[in-house]
Amino acid sequence: MTLTLDTINIHHPRHYAEHGAPWAEWDLLRRDAPVFWYERDDVEPFWAVTRYADVMTVSDNPDIFINSGPRLRLTLKGTPELLRAGVDSFGQERNWDPNEPPDMVFMDNPEHRHLRRQSSWAFTQGGMRKMAAHFAKLSEQFTNSFITELKAATARGESCDFVSGLACKLPLAAIGEIMGLAPHDWKQILIWSNALVGEIEEADRRPGESRGAAGYRSMYEMRTYIEGLIAESRAVGAERGGLIDRMVHTKAQGEYLTDQQLNGYLFLLIAAGNDTTRNAFAGGVAALLQHPDQCELLCRNPELILSAVEEILRWTSPVGNFLRTATQDFELAGTKISAGDTIGVFYPSANRDERVFEDPYRFDITRTPNPHLTFGFGAHFCLGTNLARAELKAGLTALLPHLQRIALDGDPIGIAQTHVIGYSYLPMRARS
Ligand code: HEM
Repeated sequence: MTLTLDTINIHHPRHYAEHGAPWAEWDLLRRDAPVFWYERDDVEPFWAVTRYADVMTVSDNPDIFINSGPRLRLTLKGTPELLRAGVDSFGQERNWDPNEPPDMVFMDNPEHRHLRRQSSWAFTQGGMRKMAAHFAKLSEQFTNSFITELKAATARGESCDFVSGLACKLPLAAIGEIMGLAPHDWKQILIWSNALVGEIEEADRRPGESRGAAGYRSMYEMRTYIEGLIAESRAVGAERGGLIDRMVHTKAQGEYLTDQQLNGYLFLLIAAGNDTTRNAFAGGVAALLQHPDQCELLCRNPELILSAVEEILRWTSPVGNFLRTATQDFELAGTKISAGDTIGVFYPSANRDERVFEDPYRFDITRTPNPHLTFGFGAHFCLGTNLARAELKAGLTALLPHLQRIALDGDPIGIAQTHVIGYSYLPMRARS
């Protein structure tokens, strides 16, 4: 079917689940309409920005393209952003300030900068280097049990899901340990964070509950859980010194964070660390298995792992987009954007921009330079980049000895989301 600007779909979660990310649609936009006023019946209109240079311009001008406007994530008309709505129901019962943003992603400077500093010390390159040996050990354990499970499933003639079987394990354990969350809570945290991106097993759903309702319930339950963590930290004092304790007991701009601010912040850290890296890992391993020459190259030359991680990040681009609001009229690539307009920046499209990446649809683990925008750019540049890279390095290193003895096994299922892109199910089997 020929794609046209009037009919392409880059906004509907179902489209992403059924067809995967809209690569061909973004190609068309980059070629013919890089700053495109996207109007469809079931979504409020916005400017779709798909070229690398323009995504950079928007991200690099946080005073003109702000995060604190009315829209930050792409949703269907009439569907509120889950995070804002989740604060509404939980917060009303606790008399939270309705004008306080859900978390720092919804904020602009200077408030955003002050808040970001409260946790950025926990995610530095040095800090992650110290955890590398621990991540390696965890990855090896997770990988070995997955391979055992995979072999048993294959012997029974069944597939084994890579996402739930391996890819989700280290991101959860790593953020759990950094934040000091009790290991026996991790399984429940995984169920909640999956439900937030619309993924919920039948067994975890209440009778008659829709996916949307399960998402709201999970949001509520996770906020209640976090409320308990904050209360515990207040009761214990600062002595334990973990991330949560330091955030509870350290002043930002002369004031302690309120329960409302802390709840939003901790919620963000748990969720952001969980549902992104897993998609890069699963999508990256799928890409390696689909490109046996690259897989072999990596297995023969493990020293390529760091550049393989960067190519996996570019290739998978697990965060699909963020929205911004223009505070003033602005000309972007020759197109006039008006104050108050919504702008959507599409990172995966920027990462396939042929103006920046030679042969962008070639999966090349030796690609240099590789200035991908997978983690965004500018004031809101991903806080967890060092952690995500450390996790991917550990996960891939542990899987390397097994990589040529596993295979994809049938069709994967995509996540029904436009914000987080990846697989909810990636079937694999052992090769004999
Ligand atoms: C491959 C994995 C990941 C990807 C692709 C990713 C991507 C992104 C993107 C695109 C943004 C917005 C950047 C912008 O607006 O310019 C972001 C922000 C953020 N990410 Fe990540 N992320 C990943 C992993 C993580 C992890 C492991 C954490 C754990 C703490 C994390 C925490 C955050 C936070 C807190 C923000 C908000 C930063 C701010 O508003 O200042 N991310 N991430």
